[in-house]
Amino acid sequence: VRTLEILPGEVVFIDQTALPAVERYVHCHTWQEVAGCIADMTVRGAPAIGVAAAGGLALAAATAAAGGADSAGFEAEMERAAEGLLATRPTAVNLRWAVEQMRAAWRACSGAPGDCAQRLLARAHAILDDDIERCLRIGAHGAPLFAPGARILTHCNAGALATAGYGTALGVIRSAAAMHAGISVLVDETRPWLQGARLTAWELAVEGIPYHVISDNMAGHFFSCGEIDAVVVGADRIAVNGDTANKIGTYTVSVLAKEHGVPFYVAAPLSTVDLSLASGAGIPIEERDPAEVTSFHGHQVAPVGAAARHPAFDVTPAANVTAIITEAGVLRPPFAPALVGVCGAAEGCRS
Ligand code: MRU
Repeated sequence: VRTLEILPGEVVFIDQTALPAVERYVHCHTWQEVAGCIADMTVRGAPAIGVAAAGGLALAAATAAAGGADSAGFEAEMERAAEGLLATRPTAVNLRWAVEQMRAAWRACSGAPGDCAQRLLARAHAILDDDIERCLRIGAHGAPLFAPGARILTHCNAGALATAGYGTALGVIRSAAAMHAGISVLVDETRPWLQGARLTAWELAVEGIPYHVISDNMAGHFFSCGEIDAVVVGADRIAVNGDTANKIGTYTVSVLAKEHGVPFYVAAPLSTVDLSLASGAGIPIEERDPAEVTSFHGHQVAPVGAAARHPAFDVTPAANVTAIITEAGVLRPPFAPALVGVCGAAEGCRS
């Protein structure tokens, strides 16, 4: 599934708010439009919003260069765009990682703004291509962890839609299904945004991988009946000790998995690792509009005016994580030395 494209003068997203009912594409021509698409979740998923931000910065560079900015004006405009993009969503560190990659590129560019804009477009393309490569490697490392016939539970959407392509957790499931017969998936619907029911189910249907959607409160039942062999989820930020922020509800699933002795895998590229945070306590948790909780896919279900809370992510403690599947291999506890080791070798993490 081609979910995101960076073109000269244009960044194109499949509209994830409209899927699966409508398959339409949104064309952004300014960094402000890209920021709007990240904030309103037209594009979502940690790696995808990082790649989107890189595309947004390429647009900012092209606009500044076309407007005749001198070097100082160009840099000022790039900083303004970077801050605007960073302000959209706080939890996924991939967004910050990608902005920092682009910032390093414009600071290293001593040419005219037009040349720097070209280089930044090339850098954004490289970040996109690199994300797909990372996901393919995550899939290859993760697939052997599963046995033929494995019944896998996943939460939210960590598929092609959430990345530049292929996916992290769903990429592992794709690779496992290609390697083994009989892989099937239980898909948590993932209230309130329904990323599981709308997006993961859509991707699995396209791939022809057998699945059942369940409402989030059914997961415990299926664990207790022995119908789940493994869990694999994506991540928005992993602290150096292995504590992992992911979509709200992931923590609950991890507790169930631990209680039932089921392996709980996190699949993520190293651009999701934040070496600057000792533990998950430092991860900022996005609070979204409570109206998204009091309604169901746009339809009001709670009394009008009902008070509600809406943390969009939670933190799964490292103690509940069996392994972290990265492009550099499968990491086991204790995670701190393992993460520091692969981050140092790959220079792919935020430090
Ligand atoms: O709010 P979202 O839909 O952007 O949250 C997405 C998730 O929590 C994903 O599981 C995570 O970003 C990993 S995507 C490969």
